[in-house]
Amino acid sequence: MRKPIIAGNWKMNKTAEETKALIKDLIPLVSDTDNVDVIVCPPFVNLATAAEALAGSNIKLGAQNMHFEKSGAFTGEVSADMLLAFGVKYVILGHSERRQYFGETDEGVNKKVKVALQAGLVPIVCVGETLEEREAGITSEIVCKQTKLAMLGISAEEAKGVVLAYEPIWAIGTGKTATADDANDTIGAIRNAVKEVFGEDTAQSVRIQYGGSMKPGNASELMAKSEIDGGLIGGAALKAEDFSQIVKF
Ligand code: PGA
Repeated sequence: MRKPIIAGNWKMNKTAEETKALIKDLIPLVSDTDNVDVIVCPPFVNLATAAEALAGSNIKLGAQNMHFEKSGAFTGEVSADMLLAFGVKYVILGHSERRQYFGETDEGVNKKVKVALQAGLVPIVCVGETLEEREAGITSEIVCKQTKLAMLGISAEEAKGVVLAYEPIWAIGTGKTATADDANDTIGAIRNAVKEVFGEDTAQSVRIQYGGSMKPGNASELMAKSEIDGGLIGGAALKAEDFSQIVKF
């Protein structure tokens, strides 16, 4: 059985004070959910504040990105070791906004995945198709390719520790959600791609989230699907009540 994993991607939202307040509200709402991995991913500058606020709770800390080099002349970037020093356990890699606005490539995502695994961070690797690709009927092709490229050169054992997130780009922040059946089918195709490379055992172990306008009103239907192991939540992660309802799907 794969343990469900619900992660909040706060994107570029919340000041340090607001981070503290949101976490303080969230902790009691999800304290009795040991059967689900709960993660919050605030912006880099608020990781220390978040780590302090989360101490002793069952919520784990994640980051939204990292660089693949250990250190050096990479202005504005943050390394895996820096994240670990804050108690970060998870890192979102290859989010479509990073790919779209910051020029992230499959190759770069792959480098980051390898570095994250070596460092002991759990990568949450995002894949997803554009509306144009969906309408052209090449959704599976696109997301399977992204998956295989992101995981290129890692071992089957390492692959088991990767979390994948299927996020149709047209569903992110738009209020449009893939139907539960569609999301389940595409996630099934992604699992099959993992199987092609790493075998059945790894494919059955790897957790695959859905992301894109997931909210209290649709979480239970999505989470009831056999292939969907969790959610990567944007907008609805910014309200403690909404996020906790998703965690309790
Ligand atoms: P959304 O974002 O829930 O606001 O659609 C999801 C994501 O981009 O991770």
